[in-house]
Amino acid sequence: MPTRSTTPDDDFTWSDEFLLGFDQIDEVHEEFVHVVHQLLHSKDENFLTHLDEFAAHAKSHFATEDQWMRETEFPPAQCHIDEHAAVMQSLQEVRERVVLGDVEVGRSFTRELVKWFPGHATHLDSALAQWMFKREHGGKPVVFRRQATSSNKAFGL
Ligand SMILES: [Fe+2]
Ligand SMILES: [Fe+2]
Repeated sequence: MPTRSTTPDDDFTWSDEFLLGFDQIDEVHEEFVHVVHQLLHSKDENFLTHLDEFAAHAKSHFATEDQWMRETEFPPAQCHIDEHAAVMQSLQEVRERVVLGDVEVGRSFTRELVKWFPGHATHLDSALAQWMFKREHGGKPVVFRRQATSSNKAFGL
């Protein structure tokens, strides 16, 4: 009996559209997309395992970005750090319910992550990527994507 309840609308795969031009962030974002994709397609019986894989990823992903913001005194750090903390708080609450057998709340959380990530990356991580790139290389990153689209304009390219 199928135990998945995702639909094609939930799909989430890596695309050059997500590239921000700072390799350390791009690599961790590709991993984010991969672990969320696995969670989306997880069977009920494996859901908690994949949720814990996502939790390990998110903890390290957000801690790295938070550390960069603090160490470099990135000006708009607090709202970005708060957003990471809000996701981790929700994750903890969702995990408690998944442990009790409510996988559907975990699936709903996963769909929210899919909706959340592009906005977070575009509005908050992109500013951090430019800041970090500038510190290391002294200029703005140039992002080469396989297909130029109107969204490139959103990154000022
Ligand atoms: Fe990020
Ligand atoms: Fe972030």
